[in-house]
Parts: sequence; C-alpha cells; structure tokens
Amino acid sequence: MTDNNNQDNKTLIDSGLEILHYPAPVLKKKSEPVDKFDDELAKFIQDLYSAMRAHDGVGLAAPQVGVLKKIAVVEYDNKSYVLINPKIIEKRGIQEGEEGCLSFPGIYANVTRPEWVKIETQDEHGDTHTIEGEGYTARAFLHEMDHLEGKLFIDYLSNLKRNAIRKKAAKHTGGHF
Ligand code: NI
Repeated sequence: MTDNNNQDNKTLIDSGLEILHYPAPVLKKKSEPVDKFDDELAKFIQDLYSAMRAHDGVGLAAPQVGVLKKIAVVEYDNKSYVLINPKIIEKRGIQEGEEGCLSFPGIYANVTRPEWVKIETQDEHGDTHTIEGEGYTARAFLHEMDHLEGKLFIDYLSNLKRNAIRKKAAKHTGGHF
C-alpha cells in the first residue's frame, strides 16, 4: 500500500525484487500458505522491506513481486509488522479513506474498511502472534491480506471507477503486460 503524502517518483531498487504493476496476472491469483520457516524466508522478508522502503510504501505483499506465498510486510508510524499466513480473528467499526498500492503507481481511491482488526499471524520463525491495528494500520493490514487472496483495492470500487483506473493503469504501463 502507498500513502498519498509521499509522491516522489523514486525508482531505486536495492533488493533485487521488481514490483509488478497492474494488470500483471499474478496479482489476481491466490497465494499458498508458508510451511517452511528457513533462512531463505528470512532473507525474502528483508528484501520485501527493502523494496517497500525504496518505493515509499507502507506495505508490500509477496504476490506483488511475483511470489505466490502468504507473506506481507507493513511499516507505518515507526512500527514494522511481518504477516505470514495471517488470519482475521476480529474486526470492528468502519472507516473510509484514501488508499493507494505500489502495483498502481500514482492511483488513489477511497475504500471503506473496518476501523480496527485483530489478526493472528506467524513470524519468520513460525511462531504465532496476535496483532491489532487501528485506523491506517488496520487499513494497511487488510489491504496487504487482500493481496494474498488475489484481491485488489480497485475491486471495492464501482464498475465506473474501476474502468477509469484500468484505463489509467494501461497508459502507465504502456501495455507491457
Ligand atoms: Ni497493494
């Protein structure tokens, strides 16, 4: 996910991971659960953080770099979170706000989400934790978890808005996909 306050067009990538842009077909696919908690996974998580930070993102999910595994990272308000095989346990309230995505550069739209969520997740060692997020943090968790199910933020919009974004995204990518 991206924050509209950060609009630098940085293209720096120091992780070796390439962030795929819509309409890359992998973005619509469901990810597989992680069952191997090894050094390779720990390295991949560090690479995800690097790629996210290089693009001023607040979240990045594995499918966005072409890896169909239930792994995502979120970094907001000086706190970092690793989401592996995450599940929503509880959600409360409702919030509406602007949302962007590193796979849709320069595109933002209002999306309605729960105001608060409790999530069960594993860390890079395979240990299970419960984390809570409120406001923008909740929004970021839910946005990244949607990526693991092949769901994109534009899927919450009306057909009219979604089609407008599709056209804009096609222009951005210059028909690469
Ligand atoms: Ni996204």
